[in-house]
Order: sequence, then C-alpha cells, then structure tokens
Amino acid sequence: MTNKSFSINQPTRIHFGVNAVSGLAEMVKELGGSKVFLVVDSGLKSAGLADMVEAPLKEAGIPFEIYDKVYPEPGLSLADKGAKSAKKAGVDCVVGVGGGSAMDVAKAISILLTNHGKAEDYLGLNRINKPGVPKIMIPTTAGTGAEVTFTAVFTNEKTKSKAGMNGYPLYPDAAILDPALTLTLPPHVTAATGIDAFTHALEAYVSTQAHTISDMYAAEAMDLINTNLGKAYAHGGNIEARSAMMMGSLLGGKALATAGVGLVHAMAYPLGGMFGIGHGLANAVLLPFVVEYNTIGNPDKYKDVAAIMDQDTGGLSLRDAANVAVEAIRDLTSDVRIPGSLADLNIPRNKIPKMAEIALTVTRPVENNPRKPSLDDVIAIYETAFDGS
Ligand SMILES: [Fe+2]
Repeated sequence: MTNKSFSINQPTRIHFGVNAVSGLAEMVKELGGSKVFLVVDSGLKSAGLADMVEAPLKEAGIPFEIYDKVYPEPGLSLADKGAKSAKKAGVDCVVGVGGGSAMDVAKAISILLTNHGKAEDYLGLNRINKPGVPKIMIPTTAGTGAEVTFTAVFTNEKTKSKAGMNGYPLYPDAAILDPALTLTLPPHVTAATGIDAFTHALEAYVSTQAHTISDMYAAEAMDLINTNLGKAYAHGGNIEARSAMMMGSLLGGKALATAGVGLVHAMAYPLGGMFGIGHGLANAVLLPFVVEYNTIGNPDKYKDVAAIMDQDTGGLSLRDAANVAVEAIRDLTSDVRIPGSLADLNIPRNKIPKMAEIALTVTRPVENNPRKPSLDDVIAIYETAFDGS
C-alpha cells in the first residue's frame, strides 16, 4: 500500500466550526468577490437558515442575488438557467448553500460564467478549460462532501440518466462547514445523507485507487459516522453529534475526491435518473447488498471496516471477519430506518435489466470497485435488493 503511486491536489480552503458561517463576507472579500450569486435549496427559507447566510453579507454591505430554484436531482438545464441569471446579475462570486444539489448547481454556474457553451458540453472528465469565478460552498447536510470534490452531478433530461462533470476547475475555492446549519434537518434526511457520507468513506477505503492518505480520511470518517449517526438521528439538536457528522462527511468527501467511489454509487445512478429517488436514499438502500457482494474482493479491508465499526472479530477467519462488516452496516442502516428493499421504493422489478445496463456505464466507480461486476452480477444484486433481507 505504501508503495502505491498517487497524486493529490485538494485546493479547497476549509473553515469548520459552530457559527463559521458568520465569516462568509470575509471569505468573499478574500477571494476578491464584490457581488455574490447565492445558489440555495428551495427549502432554505422555510428551514430558517436563509438569514444565517444572508446576515453576514448584509452587515458587510456586499450585494447579493438569490437563486432559489434548485430542486433535488437537478437537471442540466437548471445549471444553464442559473448561469444566465448570474450573468445578467453581473456577479463575480458564487456561493452554494444546501445539500449536494445546490452545491453542484453552484459549482457548474461558476465555470459556466467563464467558459462558453452549456453545461452539457462539460460532461465527462477534464473538459473544462478555464477556472470559474471564485466559489464558496456551505453544506447544510452531512452530507455529500460536494464542498471538497471536483464533481457536479446532474440529471440529463434527454437521456433520463445521471451525468457528471468532473475537472479541477470545479474544486470550490473555500468551504464553510457550520454544524449549526444541520440542527433542523429532519431525521429521514439526516439518515439518508449520513449513510451517503458513510458510503463515500467506505467505497473510497475499498477502492482500487485507495492509498495511505485516502485511507486515513476514510477510516476516520467511518468511525465518526458510525458513532454519531444514530445520535444525530435520535436527537437532531445534539450539536456534538451534528459536528461529528459534518466532520465525517467532510473527510468522506476528501477520501472520495482522491480514491473515488464504487459500485453502490454506480447502481444508485439509475434509481435517481429513471425514478427520481434521492441520491442519499438510493445509496443507503443498496449499500448492504453491494457490500455483501464485494467482501471477497478485499476481505482484509472489510475486516478493518468491521473493527472500525467496533465489532469484535477475534478468533474469526478472514472471510467471516469481513462478513461481520456486512452485518454492522445492515444494523447502521436499519437503526436509522432506511428502507430494507427496492420494493419499498416502488421500483418496478421488470426495469432491473435496464437499470443494470445503465449502472455499468458509470465506468469510473465500476472500475474502482474491489470486485469487477458482470451484467449478471449487477442484475443479481438488484434482484436481492428488491426482495430485501
Ligand atoms: Fe454520494
């Protein structure tokens, strides 16, 4: 492992802490911004968070324009419409506030302000030529880790599939992580986004691209989330648990940004693209079934995962110790009431072959996966997940 070659350049400046959002205006100024485009989740106002983000800008006299049209699993056209509004408003800084959807739209708007064309032109890897305008991300879930990744994921309205743009210019210049912004998240959102964050860490940890540094991030993230997700779910106002979850999400994001994600994410894509299932929930439902399939590909790492999750594997064979991780993960998801099957999500069973085909086109996560799946394998995993355990 220590001989493995890799390169890391994670340029996002991080400000972490309760009330960190009060430093937003200072951050805008440091990055040379004079007028801000605030890209926010449509529910931000009703969650009572809008004031917390707007107040520091108002106090500092920094003008801003609010774009609150972001909806879950946003289409590419939303990024184009947002960029058009941003151009019209004459802004020179973009701030994304919300879950992954708002942050991904903000990241895309930033690069569309300086690169020609439409969002569709930049799908794939490294197709963005120029840096965007300065962009700051403020997550309100814990979370997608989008505040520290170079990816923005959209629904391609034409193909009804999920599609990502990936490239260095998408790295946010700064991320403000304020756990107080997550205190009002409802339990089901805490659960789905928290398991998504755990999945980032786990998939990075067992990725074929994993290395010593990504492992450090991933192991700490899994430990934090495993220990604190139940607490944050049970008592949303528990600021210590919320802080630990936000740190876990951040570290999971940093792990995935360099080691990638795996088959859970690839198989979640069609659930979002074809049926509009939210990203976190889609991953959370699939997670135990994919782990069960994966363990033979890297049992040593899965044995580590069992230990990270406080399981006693003493006296067990490597194979059995790896399988302990499957049960620990199943407990983690069922404790926070993640549905136990695809049937619970009302996915039509006869669409499984089509879903499997699409999942295998999500090439990078499939290649990162510790077990190389065939089409039949993916169909079988969906079938098992359909029936549940
Ligand atoms: Fe994810």
